[in-house]
Amino acid sequence: MENDKYPFVNLPLPYAYDALEPFIDAKTMVIHHDNYLQAYIDNLNNTIKDFPELQALPLEDLIKSSVYLTDNLRIPIQNNGGGVFNHRMFFHGMQNPMEIKTEGRIIDMIEAQFGNMETFYRIFKAEAMRIFGSGYTWLIYDNGKLKIVTLPNQNSPLLQNYCPILNLDIWEHAYFLKHYNLRSEYIDDWMRVINWQMADQNYMACLEKSAQGNEPSAVLMRKKNKFFRNA
Ligand SMILES: [Fe+2]
Repeated sequence: MENDKYPFVNLPLPYAYDALEPFIDAKTMVIHHDNYLQAYIDNLNNTIKDFPELQALPLEDLIKSSVYLTDNLRIPIQNNGGGVFNHRMFFHGMQNPMEIKTEGRIIDMIEAQFGNMETFYRIFKAEAMRIFGSGYTWLIYDNGKLKIVTLPNQNSPLLQNYCPILNLDIWEHAYFLKHYNLRSEYIDDWMRVINWQMADQNYMACLEKSAQGNEPSAVLMRKKNKFFRNA
């Protein structure tokens, strides 16, 4: 992804603020992107401003490596780095409903594993409904299978070595202006603007990483000593 290293900047949305109307309203998109994501970006930049070794890392590596850092870095990197990664994926995971094409290998895989799209939507929604407080529901790839998982706050699936495909922001700021407290209606509306082509790209990237047999934990261990000198 563009701008995946320090200094992080708030890239424009890949569509107009009102592109997701009537399902996700323009005012929510303005505040969500320009205010909330901007704050995560500012806080992440500020957190690593004195650490060149951390600044050199792509965002995904920065998040994964945070587990080896002391709390004063680990906690703000996981909160704000997660906030940047999660929001970027969420925003790119939606598109104008007139442009949606529900096709691709991700759709084939969902139908093979869940039976049909309706069953997938039902299970995904049930997961999203059960989040207590704030968090995200994720479609991830793990060990040859798709999984639907929920994670609180800005926790990253990267920390569990999951490969993310699609995510749904369940923080109230994502829907309160239009849907008030009606999370169920928000989830139904989000399902009408899912960018399946982007999800397909993410899925193909997950397959590629899996085929390369990368060992993130081993990579992280090699980085560990380097970070401890600076943190
Ligand atoms: Fe959000």
